[in-house]
Amino acid sequence: MSDNSSPAVASPGERKKVTIRLIQAMKTRHEPISMLTAYDYPTALAMDQAGMDIILVGDSLGMVVLGYETTLPVTMDEMIHHCKAVARGAKYALLVGDMPFLSYQITVPEAVRNAGRFLQEAKMDAVKLEGGRERAETIRAIVSTGIPVMGHLGLTPQSVHQLGGFRTQGRNAQAASRLLEDALILQEAGCFSLVLEAIPGRLAALVSKSLEIPTIGIGAGPGCDGQVLVTHDLLGLFERFTPKFVKQYANLNAEMKRAFSEYKTEVSTRAFPDAEHTVEMDDEEWQHLEEIMKISNSASIAAKRKGG
Ligand code: KIV
Repeated sequence: MSDNSSPAVASPGERKKVTIRLIQAMKTRHEPISMLTAYDYPTALAMDQAGMDIILVGDSLGMVVLGYETTLPVTMDEMIHHCKAVARGAKYALLVGDMPFLSYQITVPEAVRNAGRFLQEAKMDAVKLEGGRERAETIRAIVSTGIPVMGHLGLTPQSVHQLGGFRTQGRNAQAASRLLEDALILQEAGCFSLVLEAIPGRLAALVSKSLEIPTIGIGAGPGCDGQVLVTHDLLGLFERFTPKFVKQYANLNAEMKRAFSEYKTEVSTRAFPDAEHTVEMDDEEWQHLEEIMKISNSASIAAKRKGG
């Protein structure tokens, strides 16, 4: 039986805008935080109506929407463009814009300026960036400007070449202990939350217990304070590969192919459009048009005769 008092799904009228404080309070109250990625207006609208707590405009955009092999080619302008569309669709969820490769790694002032664009131009509420202790100074500078930062540890896709592929991180004791240290450093630097991607479940649970700020896991097991998936994986829209940790809640790729081929067949056989999908003129207007055409035809015949 469904529980109508659940805070997760509320009608748009009753919902309040999700804030950083609420996300942090959810950890204190042991309420799981739901987060998904979105890159466009209709998806953001549907997600907001479903009661999502956080919408991340991830740089996974590059792979699942723009067709790149990795997230590395994604630019600031591409991110801002998609963040703006998401912000037009979602009124309640906390909106997080993902800082793309090279937008925050070169200098601290450049990182602050780029982070600011997400709030000023794209109406995001916060930014996310990848990396551990080496990003602490940048995070401090962005946070001190008044921009909330979500960290990202474990499998950090912008370092895919350094990591040797999209593989689970923190599997040995030394790597796990370094990751725990990084998490504490990012918390101290001012992150309001951390994404933990593709790390062992036990390690993710330990990190989550050790931190005051909430963790959002992807391929990190149930011990995190919240969960995130790439929406195109969840919907079965991305066919190139599906990570083991993804649960597919729909197969929209198959559904899309079915609809496209049915449309193709109906156009070829003239089954579409039929009367139901065609707008018609009133008979009276049609007769009027025929009269106008008769008059103009006889006038042009008369003009031709005169000229010839
Ligand atoms: O870009 C993205 O979608 C992400 C999520 C996997 C957390 O960073």
